[in-house]
Amino acid sequence: MTDLKGRDFLSILDLSVEELEAVLKLARDLKNKQKAGEAHPLCAGKALAMIFQKPSTRTRVSFEVGMFQLGGHALYLNAGDLQLGRGETLADTARALSRFVDGIMIRTFEQFDVEELARHATVPVINGLTDWEHPCQVLADLLTVLEHKGRLAGIKLAYVGDGNNVAHSLLLGGARTGMRIAVATPPGYAPDPELVHRAAAEAVQSGGEIELTADPVGAVRDADVVVTDTWASMGQEAEHDTRVAVFRPYQVNEALVKHARPDYIFMHCLPAHRGEEVTDEIIDGPRSVVWDEAENRLHVQKALLALLL
Ligand code: CP
Ligand code: NVA
Repeated sequence: MTDLKGRDFLSILDLSVEELEAVLKLARDLKNKQKAGEAHPLCAGKALAMIFQKPSTRTRVSFEVGMFQLGGHALYLNAGDLQLGRGETLADTARALSRFVDGIMIRTFEQFDVEELARHATVPVINGLTDWEHPCQVLADLLTVLEHKGRLAGIKLAYVGDGNNVAHSLLLGGARTGMRIAVATPPGYAPDPELVHRAAAEAVQSGGEIELTADPVGAVRDADVVVTDTWASMGQEAEHDTRVAVFRPYQVNEALVKHARPDYIFMHCLPAHRGEEVTDEIIDGPRSVVWDEAENRLHVQKALLALLL
């Protein structure tokens, strides 16, 4: 088995393409074992601390249930209830938690904070979403594409909407695995240029492609996978109304997806804002795989935990 013991997972680029493949392979094995009712206590006796500075449904439940199914234990720590909320530093929090647990998952705002935590923790740190990246989500997305399309290399994935954390991780993860990633955003909401530059370099290595555009139809044309995400991420609530007006032409609806391949799949990391970035007819329609995608959070994160902790 690939040895990732002790490693952090702060960005999707923390895993080489071979390591990504190993995580996805183990995820499929563990998914089969779980469905067959076969025990797989790969984290027996181990504990995971989960620090949340933002809300969560899927990340919290999938990590907690995942640790349980692996024979370990997960602790939900609301950042506001920790001494962190009263001024204890992230570094000291990392040092203290490292004496109790075997891994730390954190959902927060700044990518720098996850890196700071990892610098001072002596156990693996996992990024459960920052403003910059959402790497666990993209592991689940890669598994979902693989299950429905049979391969990653050469698959065209169109991301339509905000150039946010999910777009960032999809660009990097897709480029590393040889996918053709087209991102359509309104002007002013494109993914970070340096990150795009990095993704482009990855695409050169893998034979993938990166395309950035303001034209949603062009991005979706002949796509195998159509993805969107909220127009106002956690922390951007005050911008919601302005964003809805700007992003309206980027809604994933019947008119847009008729430009995709007939056998396209629709993905969304969830939570969805129905009637904003996606219509009911699409998210509830026959091409939507959003519940498979949500379930896959469990399987990929179990693989990650089994390999890292
Ligand atoms: N997709 C995702 O991370 O969902 P939660 O915010 O519910 O964890
Ligand atoms: N981009 C969204 C993802 C939620 C899982 C956010 O950061 O709020």
